[in-house]
Amino acid sequence: MLRPLITIVRRSYVTKLSERQTSLIARGLPKKEPIKGVQDIIVVASGKGGVGKSTIAANFACSMARLGKRVGLLDGDIFGPTVPLLLNVHSEPDVNDRNLLIPPQNYNVKCLSMGMLTTPKDSMIWRGPLVMSAVQRLLKGAEWGPLDILVIDTPPGTGDVHLSLSQHAPITGVILVTTPHTAAVQVTVRGAKMYEKLNVPIFGVVENMKYSICENCNQRLEFFKDISMNLLPRTLISLPLHSHIAECSESGVPIVIKYPDSEYSNLFTQLAKEISEILDKNKFGKPDFHRGTF
Ligand SMILES: Nc1ncnc2c1ncn2[C@@H]1O[C@H](COP(=O)(O)OP(=O)(O)O)[C@@H](O)[C@H]1O
Ligand SMILES: [Mg+2]
Repeated sequence: MLRPLITIVRRSYVTKLSERQTSLIARGLPKKEPIKGVQDIIVVASGKGGVGKSTIAANFACSMARLGKRVGLLDGDIFGPTVPLLLNVHSEPDVNDRNLLIPPQNYNVKCLSMGMLTTPKDSMIWRGPLVMSAVQRLLKGAEWGPLDILVIDTPPGTGDVHLSLSQHAPITGVILVTTPHTAAVQVTVRGAKMYEKLNVPIFGVVENMKYSICENCNQRLEFFKDISMNLLPRTLISLPLHSHIAECSESGVPIVIKYPDSEYSNLFTQLAKEISEILDKNKFGKPDFHRGTF
């Protein structure tokens, strides 16, 4: 039976348009390519600022290095870079003959940050696309490999940096950080849901500043006792609020380096061992992530 001409024309038009659209869309979409020489990418994130993401990213990276892993730390906080301070690396990175940045190294951790490319006085008045290209430069315009793990510290929220990272890099998993107060937990839940939507697995949560130990009577003090963590993925470790942790960060020597045998360092070692085990299992095809079930 003959089909009406109009149907044929419409169909072919539709087909042509969708082919064209498909190729245009494919051209416009960022390519999720592995980072050369990098085995696993671990993102440290939270909805909230000031909860200890950078402190945890730096100590986790150093703890992984202490376990013998080859580790890098990328500072994804373009507006408020802290990695140079935390790891005491302030030198401007060299560039190799392929125009790739060479990450400077301290405590056996290679690191890169916008803070190494700008002075603290420079104001960052960048909008979306520029922020994304800065992240790309640090991620893909650098000679990271060979690395077992690249840890990425992120700014608060669920903005351009998070989207850009999830679109461009194959993230192995996310460590969420929160403090135990309602406002922080609520925005961290939002962050968790964003990663769930982007289909990025979540290792679990580091609960920071959960308690404090009185230096006089050794009593454990909890300021936010009734906060429910039920809405979040499982807790990996709970860290106390302690002056040593803050002082070490300020002086550019992470606590796991300065006090390697302290109970705080042991908690970071526990975290590093747990994540290493998950990564090993993952390689043998038995993923053990918290994916979208919280
Ligand atoms: N467990 C802790 N005990 C004491 N001080 C901490 C702890 N965690 C973080 N801090 C301090 O809190 C401040 C904010 O931490 P930071 O890691 O920069 O947070 P974020 O990256 O989430 O903004 C820093 O001065 C840091 O030294
Ligand atoms: Mg930070």
